[in-house]
Amino acid sequence: DKGGWSSFMAKEVAEEPDAVAKTVLGRVHDGQIVIPELDGMDELFQGVSRVIVLACGTAYYAGLVGKYALEQWARIPVDVELAHEFRYRDAIVGPDTLVVSISQSGETMDTLMAVKEAARLGAKTLSICNTQGATIPRESDAIVYTHAGPEVAVASTKAFVAQITALYLLALHVGRVRGALSAEVGVEAIEELEALPEKIQWILDNEQGRIEQLAHWMTDTRSVLFLGRHVGFPIALEGALKLKELSYIHAEGFAAGELKHGPIALIEPGQPVFVMVPSPRDGATLHSKVISNIEEIRARGARVIAVAEEGDAAVLPFADEVLRVPLAAPLFEPVLSVVPLHIFAMGLATAKGLDVDQPRNLAKSVTVE
Ligand code: BG6
Repeated sequence: DKGGWSSFMAKEVAEEPDAVAKTVLGRVHDGQIVIPELDGMDELFQGVSRVIVLACGTAYYAGLVGKYALEQWARIPVDVELAHEFRYRDAIVGPDTLVVSISQSGETMDTLMAVKEAARLGAKTLSICNTQGATIPRESDAIVYTHAGPEVAVASTKAFVAQITALYLLALHVGRVRGALSAEVGVEAIEELEALPEKIQWILDNEQGRIEQLAHWMTDTRSVLFLGRHVGFPIALEGALKLKELSYIHAEGFAAGELKHGPIALIEPGQPVFVMVPSPRDGATLHSKVISNIEEIRARGARVIAVAEEGDAAVLPFADEVLRVPLAAPLFEPVLSVVPLHIFAMGLATAKGLDVDQPRNLAKSVTVE
C-alpha cells in the first residue's frame, strides 16, 4: 500500500528518517551501544583480526561507508568487496576473519554464495539484513537486523540509510568490546546517531521541492558525474547508481582525488557534476581539496551542483546550485548527503514519466548468480 504516495519509492524516501530511528531504537542503553542480538559474542569480536564486508549494489556502497567507521572506532582492518568478486578468487580467509554481509533482502544469491564460501574457509559470519528470517541471516553466525520496514521499490533507498546506521552501531559496539573506543568518543557518536533522523527530515522538509525542480529542468541531460572524497566517495557512487537505475541516464561516480588522473577529461561546457563537499570544520584539508576540484572543473565549463553543509559559504562562489544538508560529524555525513541524491534520481525519473518503482530490466532481489 503506497499510503497516498505517488510511488513506493516516494514513500520509502519519506521514511528514511524513520528507517534510521528504528534501526537505532532499543540499541542505546546508558550512553552505550548495546546490540542484544550480539550478546555473548564479545570473544568473537575480540579474537578477529580483520573484517571483510561483502555485498552487491547499493548495499556494497553502504559497506564502503562502514569501512571508515569500523576502522576509526574499532581499529580493525576492513576490506569491502563485491560478493561475486570474492566468491571466485582464492581469497585468504580464516578463523581470524569476520565476514560482514549486507543485504536488504537477505536472498541475493551472489551474497549468499560468498557468505557460504567464507564460512567454508573458516571465517565467522555476521549478516546485516532487513528481512527477518531470510536465507543469508539463517546461514550466518550472527545477525544485526536493520529496521527500515519492508522496501518495495526495486532500487534501495531507506534500506541504504538503515544499513549505514547498522554499520555505525556495529563499529561502536565492536570498538567498545575491543577497548578501541574511548567513552567520550562513544557518547558523542551516540548523540550524533540519535540526531540523524531529525536532520534527514530537515532535508526532506526544506530541500526536496528545490531538488525536484532542479531534476525537472535536467530531464534532457545525457550524462551526470558525481565526485566525492573520503566518506563522500561511496555516496558519489550511490548517487550515480541510483540515477542510472531510475532515469536511464549515463552517470558515473568518481573519487574526487582521481579527477586529474582521468575523469577531468570528460569535463566539457555544460557537463553537470554533483560534488559532495566535506564539512569545512573537519580540519579543513579535505574541504579545501574538494573546493579546488570544483574550481578545476568549473574552469572547464562544468555545471556544479554542490551538496554542502548548511552555512558553508566557501562553495557559494563556485557552485551553480547548492543543496544543503545539516551539520554532522564527518563519519555521519553520508546518511545526510545521500538524501538529496535519492530525491534527485527519483525526481528526474518522475519528470521523465518513468516508473520509479519498477525500472526496466531490474529485479528487487537477484536470486540467481
Ligand atoms: C539489486 C537491487 O538487484 O540488488 C539493488 O536492485 C540492491 O537495489 C542489490 O542494492 C542488492 O540487494 P540486497 O537485497 O542484497 O541488498
